[in-house]
Amino acid sequence: MCGIVGYVGHRDCVDFLLQGLRRLEYRGYDSSGVVALTHGGRMQTAKAAGRLDKLIGRLAHSPIHGTTGVGHTRWATHGPATDENSHPHIGGDGLLAVVHNGVIENFRSLKERLEAAGYIFRSATDTEVVAHLIASYWEQEHAATSLTAAEMVEQNYEPLVRCVRAALQKLRGTYGLAVVFRDFPDVVIAAKLGSPLVVGVGDGEHFLASDSSPLVGVTDKIVYLDDHEIAVITADTLRVLHRDLGEKPADVRTLALAAGEVDKGGYEHFMLKEIFEQPDTLCNTMRGRLKPDEATAHFGGLNLSPKELRSVRRIVLTGCGTSWHAALVGEYVIEELARIPVEVEYASELRYRNPPLDDGTLVFAITQSGETADTLAAMREMKRMGHTTLAISNVVGSSIAKEAHGGIYLHAGPEIGVASTKAFTSQCVALTMLGLYLGRMRHLSPVQGARIIDDLQALPEQVRAALACDEAVRQIADKYAQCGTFLYLGRQFNFPAALEGALKLKEISYIHAEGYPAAEMKHGPIALVDENTPSVFIVPQGAVFEKVISNMEEIKARGGPVIAVTCAEGAATIGDLADDVIEVPTVADFLQPIVTAIPTQLLAYYIALRRGCDVDKPRNLAKSVTVE
Ligand code: M6R
Repeated sequence: MCGIVGYVGHRDCVDFLLQGLRRLEYRGYDSSGVVALTHGGRMQTAKAAGRLDKLIGRLAHSPIHGTTGVGHTRWATHGPATDENSHPHIGGDGLLAVVHNGVIENFRSLKERLEAAGYIFRSATDTEVVAHLIASYWEQEHAATSLTAAEMVEQNYEPLVRCVRAALQKLRGTYGLAVVFRDFPDVVIAAKLGSPLVVGVGDGEHFLASDSSPLVGVTDKIVYLDDHEIAVITADTLRVLHRDLGEKPADVRTLALAAGEVDKGGYEHFMLKEIFEQPDTLCNTMRGRLKPDEATAHFGGLNLSPKELRSVRRIVLTGCGTSWHAALVGEYVIEELARIPVEVEYASELRYRNPPLDDGTLVFAITQSGETADTLAAMREMKRMGHTTLAISNVVGSSIAKEAHGGIYLHAGPEIGVASTKAFTSQCVALTMLGLYLGRMRHLSPVQGARIIDDLQALPEQVRAALACDEAVRQIADKYAQCGTFLYLGRQFNFPAALEGALKLKEISYIHAEGYPAAEMKHGPIALVDENTPSVFIVPQGAVFEKVISNMEEIKARGGPVIAVTCAEGAATIGDLADDVIEVPTVADFLQPIVTAIPTQLLAYYIALRRGCDVDKPRNLAKSVTVE
């Protein structure tokens, strides 16, 4: 959701800015813009509502150049997606330009004050307040000092930092932001609070970005900024200043991302590539974590002793969207394997609840991006209440991963498609391993543990086999692509799989879809059933197979088309009851949501494709939702 890039160095910044914005497109946006500075005191901007190609077209027609600049992709929050509301926003009378991710909650009162002081607003955004606010401090400071660019360098850009800091102190809300100054074209000042920012360190150049993907291929040296930090970035220097701790050495780490991980690798869409990566991503999530000799799993980063883990009496799993569905899978699996009561809560609700949780409660924030605002806020609230909070996240160094007491990284590689696929299956596997680990500390026998390890080790190849349904699913998608409503139904472990299948379909094909526990369907949603409303049953063989078949009969009796996702044995029983059958390999019941996710992901993908939807960048959605 919104993206920032920046550059200071010896090259023309616009090339990097556009290439970086292209890499950030996956985050979701509806307009974009760049600003470039030259030493002749020119600060030029270009902005365009719509796709990045529109901005690139404008720049081809009216190029701008400079060796310092910043760029932005905006996902509208305050004011619609228009050229005027696109970032960068200008402060004062062309003194400086700002790009910003996050939300300034007190922008109205600040705007009133700035307007009263004569500042003219040209957009409906909250960001423009930041630009004018910094300008107002600069105008006070500059009137007193009239510094030249050379004097500013001598003073280490301190006067500019003072103005930015003074403005930040007035803001309430969240920001990742970057400021450039018309009269000081060799510096970018960046600041972070609640919205990610990283700096790439090059040779005589520095890069700025709101996540690491724009840096891939340009540098492998990365600095993750923390909340309340300000970075003063020139071509040759990087200073990191903390609000309370003063200047601190920049913690330069190695970025372990290869170019192949952020491109489509020959697939038509990132989503399809990520669906097909799952046999490998599941291996990566499990790598080094299964201990066959002790018939258990282990995790390096939980930062809790076995004694502390044995005293856990309750687990809360929280997250949003697909991560919340993975949490539901986790609830079934952990309760089954470890016999610990598990509660699953939407992060957006948990943050405002006041749940009476006892000592011995362990809270897991589950999140692909590690930046989801609601999940971060829920985790902070649980921490504030004194509970141990752990993260299950895919993004190393993300805010949630950093603020948690410890956690589990998914190691699924960057997920670029807005619709989460490989992160979901890796989350389910991480939670299953957690169930095994906690179960083996309690009642699970070595024999039971060893069987679960065998099941887990066989899983990647079973997922590979499930991917063979690709062509069959494509044909089923063609058949039903014009339907207006879908039901997704499953029970027990496959109830969350049904919810996730429905979410995938609605996200990328814009078809109304509802996921339900199969038996619950007759308490309302069955009223939706007619010959144009397909029901996708997630019904592999298992404890509730017969029950779900009865639910299938109920749909059939009302003329609704049935698509069954099942295993070979199940297919034989279902016979003609289903109009279409998609077969997946037989796996242990607690692993079924992982294998059945494959056809539902592919079904959503091919239906969306058939309807001409932008699969990787669905309308209105952002990859990581960093606003409440
Ligand atoms: O990055 P997170 O896992 O915290 O994101 C949570 C949701 O925003 C996310 O899962 C969303 O529902 C996806 N677009 C689902 O495909």
